[in-house]
Order: sequence, then structure tokens, then C-alpha cells
Amino acid sequence: MRRTHRCGEIGLDEATRGAAVVLQGWVWHRRDLGGLIFVDLRDRYGSIQCVVNPQAAPEAHAEAERVRPEYVVEVVGTVRPRAPENVNPNHPTGAVEVSVEEIRTLAEAETPAFLIEEDARASEEIRLRYRFLDLRRPPLQRSLRLRHDLALATRNLLDQQGFMEIETPMLTRSTPEGARDYLVPSRVHPGSFYALPQSPQLFKQLLMISGYDRYFQIVRCFRDEDLRADRQPEFTQIDMEMSFVEASDVREIAEALMRRLLSVAAYEGEVEFAQLTFREALDRFGSDRPDMRYGNELVDVSELFAGADFRAFAQVVADGGVVKGLRVPGAGSWGRSRFDRLAEAAKQQGAKGLVWIKRDGGELLSPVAKFLGEELLAQIVEAADVGEGEALLLVGDEWERAATTLGTIRCALAESEGWLEPAAEDRTTDGLRFAWVTEFPLLERNAEGRLTARHHPFTCPLEEDLELLENNPLAVRAQAYDLVLNGVELGGGSIRIHRSDVQQRVFDALGVEREEASAKFGFLLRALQHGAPPHGGIAFGFDRIVMLLSGARSLRDTIAFPKTASASDLMTAAPGPADSEQLEELGLRLDGPEAAAEVPTASGRADQDQDQGGGSR
Ligand code: AMO
Repeated sequence: MRRTHRCGEIGLDEATRGAAVVLQGWVWHRRDLGGLIFVDLRDRYGSIQCVVNPQAAPEAHAEAERVRPEYVVEVVGTVRPRAPENVNPNHPTGAVEVSVEEIRTLAEAETPAFLIEEDARASEEIRLRYRFLDLRRPPLQRSLRLRHDLALATRNLLDQQGFMEIETPMLTRSTPEGARDYLVPSRVHPGSFYALPQSPQLFKQLLMISGYDRYFQIVRCFRDEDLRADRQPEFTQIDMEMSFVEASDVREIAEALMRRLLSVAAYEGEVEFAQLTFREALDRFGSDRPDMRYGNELVDVSELFAGADFRAFAQVVADGGVVKGLRVPGAGSWGRSRFDRLAEAAKQQGAKGLVWIKRDGGELLSPVAKFLGEELLAQIVEAADVGEGEALLLVGDEWERAATTLGTIRCALAESEGWLEPAAEDRTTDGLRFAWVTEFPLLERNAEGRLTARHHPFTCPLEEDLELLENNPLAVRAQAYDLVLNGVELGGGSIRIHRSDVQQRVFDALGVEREEASAKFGFLLRALQHGAPPHGGIAFGFDRIVMLLSGARSLRDTIAFPKTASASDLMTAAPGPADSEQLEELGLRLDGPEAAAEVPTASGRADQDQDQGGGSR
């Protein structure tokens, strides 16, 4: 039989007509009231109550007694309105039910490892192991549906704007985006490896040089990096590149895309895009991902400490550092231990410590009050506008560290002190704060003291800073921009270097030897000498967009088959061992402790992998 309707799409219209229906789906809940049996039938469109009456349909009733949750069944029946007292106004099909004439079991099911419910009750590990069951839960189905809609809207909008979607290789050379590569050994070239792309960066630039002046791709990227709730080892970007543009042109298209995606996700209202430089973002929010949903911006009180008796901070200022402050409402009544915990957090950020002053019952209290002196205390509190019942946290350090230390504490306090208004139930744009952060430094020093590109080495310096490249490289600002939403980095991009001499100067500043540059990026340098248009672009984290717009708390809830924090897939038990034949073909030999482990042969592998459960490597 053919199904006539989807479970979630039956309403009063069908009920008043007494429509005859054939439904197919999964048994969700089954209630046996002694006489009547109620079966909620579910598919990805929703669910509907089916009622089986032993007198009217004895055979169906016998089958309904047998079915269990998650059986796949076919129901033949008639739609009718529910009795008024049984109407459930909170359920889309709550006003109707199906009076069952026949039930057929299409597939039996084992007792599921957990019940398929709106809220997940089972541990995440179990849910990931039985991902095919977890994906039956309505919130995941909604999230994947939204993901599909957003991808479709992206393609449509960019197509209307003249962009072409072009695929770039997955088996490729390393593209530096700051993470480790996933390597794929080559069988045909023993000892050689492909890298999976961290992004299509180099290819999209080459496409510009080839004249495809508006490119985009919804593309998988791979990064072997430490994972967090908003990072996955393989994730999806909306990747774009445009020729003959300036940064503002790229931002304009990006804003149009965001507006379209918000409307697809049923958000109502306008959104503004704030714009601030990296310097301003750090000064005010202590972060290049400023969360602008709440105030409590940082203040700078360095001036007050210049030449002050309070040596620690006076010295910081004399050395060119700053003293920054964060006002904390409600902290006037905190005890010492709470401040101590914040000081500990500050030290973990690399700061030397944290000084606090609180205003409680008209008094100014601080463990360093006697070193500061009454006059300075009063000046600080006035400058930072600390009110009764509030406290001020101070960090004196090199500018970026002072700012980011307090910025991190600001975000943590926003969570713990409830600075954030609870998210509105309805989908308005009121709770969405977009910000462009621009003029990032081009370079930074890594832990070993070497200069590295802050984003990637193809980012164009600001024209007026180009002359600093050789003598004051850390002062060079980039034509780079990030889009931040509510403190989460949604995307980042830049205007690229389109002149090979400038690209060479940047490689020189980075200390990339000419031979190394030519070995790794020779093809790009060569292409830049064959007529490269000025170009720039951006890439958005698509999973992050879906996460924020669907209200999910983890990227895992936006990806059909995600990986755990240790980059394993618990369902397929990937990664798994390779058998010795495969390794031999690839010319590889293991010599770590893994080498001693029994490596199964190809024929036995699939079963063993499943039993092993993964997650341990
Ligand atoms: P970037 O490295 O900033 O830029 O990446 C762009 C966006 O991709 C998302 N993202 C991730 N999402 C999930 N898991 C991850 N591990 C992960 N890493 C990054 C973020 C980020 O903003 N080629 C440049 C773009 C360009 O210059 O055009 C690039 O890849 O949301």
C-alpha cells in the first residue's frame, strides 16, 4: 500500500471529511487501556494518535497488542475529530485521531537503548553510539531540517548574486589555517602524503586568478586541533571569494546572507552589524569576539598608576603596559574567597595577578588598600564609576594580556551572575548582536617567539602599514575581518595579497625560507605572476550558524554524524586500526606501542571494530 499522508500533516480538514488514510511510521508510545489501545505513530513530520477498538477491528487490536516502541508499522484508518475533552491544544495534531481499521508490522525493533523523546535522557556516549536512534528525536530532526533549509537559501542567494559553486579537491596539499593537518598516505607514491584541506583557501584564490570572479562552496574542512563544544575535526564552511572588491563589498554580501538566513530560521526584526577594530574590541570587551549582549565594558585606569606608590602597577605602566578594570555589579558583598578564585583564573590566563576593590556599606575595601592609599583608591573608584555594592577587578600587564584576562573573566561572570537576559522564547532578533571586528594585526608571536600569521599568510596588510613590514612587523594591521555573533566567531576573511612581491615580503617577514615558500606555495606565487585580480573573501562556520540559529548548545546537535571531543565516531568506531596488508601496500610500518597490538585482518575487521566501541584512542 502507498502512504497517503505524513503523520504530522493531518488536521481538522481531514477529520471533518472523515478522510481514509494509510500511514507508515514508527510506533512512538503505546497505551493499552484494557479495551482501547492508543498508538502514537511518528515520522519526521510529526506524530498522530491512532486508536484501536477491539470490537470494531479485532485483528488490528491483536496486532496493536503485539507492537512495541520503534516498530515500523502501516496503519489504515479514518481520521476523526477528538472528543473536546481529549483535545490537546499544544500538539499540532492534537485535535484529531485516526480510528484504526488495519495495522501491519513492516519491521520489528529491538528495545531501544533509550526512549526517543524530545529531551535526551541517555548519556551522550550512548546517544552517539546509537546515533541512528538519536537522530529520530524531534529536536535533531528539526535541526537537520533547518540545516538543509539554510544551505538551500545560501545557494539560492549566492546564485542570485552571481556566485558559482565550484568544488575544490579533498586530497590536496596543506593549507595553513593554524591547525594540524589530517594526512592521507599515498599508495602510488610511497612515503608521500596528501593533506585533507583545512579550508579551500588557496584554491579559491587560484579560481580568482582564473577569472571566476564570484565563487562559493559549501565545503567540508578538516582540522586536527583541540576540540571544544564549538569545534569539530571535520566541519562545514560557507566559503566565498570575490574579485575586484574591497573589504566593505565582502561584508555587504555577508550581511545580506546573514539576513536571509535569519529570515529562513524564522527570526523577525531587523539586525544591526556593529563594526569595531581589533584594538577597540580588546579595549572595550577584552576579546576579539566581543559579546555585546551586555555592558560592563572594560575601563583603562593606567594613567592613575603612572608614577604611583603602588609599585607593581606603576612598573607595568612604566614598561609600556596598561592597568585595566572590570566593574562587577553585586560583588560589593563578596567574600575574599570569591575574589581569590577570580585571581586564580587570571593567573591561568597568564596574568601576574588580580587586584580588587569593593564598595560595601559606603566603605572602600581592598586587600591592597594600604598600598594604594586613600586618595588613589577614591580616584580609581571614581574613574571606573564603581557604585555602592559593586567591585572593581584590576589587571596590570602588557596591553593584550591585561585586556584578554579581564575579557575572559567578563564572559564567565556574565554566565554565573546572570548578566544575560534569558533568551526570548519568540524568535525576535532582539537577542542577536552581530559585530564585525576589523584591522587585526597581520602577525603575532607564537609560544616559541617566532612570528606567525594571525590568520593565514595570504592576508593583505593595510596599505598604509606595508612599510612597517620589515622593521616593525607586529604593528602591521591586516585587511581582515571577522563576523561575531553573541561572542561566537561565525566567520572570518580578508582581502588577499594579489601581488607576488608583497606575498614574498610577507613570507620573508614570517621567516619562511624562499626555498620552503617555493616548495609549499610555489604554485600560488607562480599564479600571482600571471595576472591576479585584487580579491578577497570570507568563510563562515556553517555548523556554528546552524547551532546559533537553532538554539542548539553543541555543534554535535547540528551535524548528522558528529565526532566526540576526542575525535572519534562512537557508532562506526572510527578511527580504527588498519590491517597489516593495507599498511604494507602504503609502505607504512607502525613502531609505537600500537604496533604490538594484534592487527585484525581485513576479513575480520568490520565486526571487531563494532565491538571495540571506539573512543579509546
Ligand atoms: P577560519 O579559519 O577563520 O578562516 O575559518 C572560518 C570559520 O570556520 C569555522 N571553524 C570551525 N567550525 C567548526 N569546527 C572547527 N574546528 C572550526 N574551525 C573553524 C569558524 C570560523 O570563523 N580560509 C579562511 C577564510 C577566508 O579567509 O576566507 C578560513 O578558513 O566559524
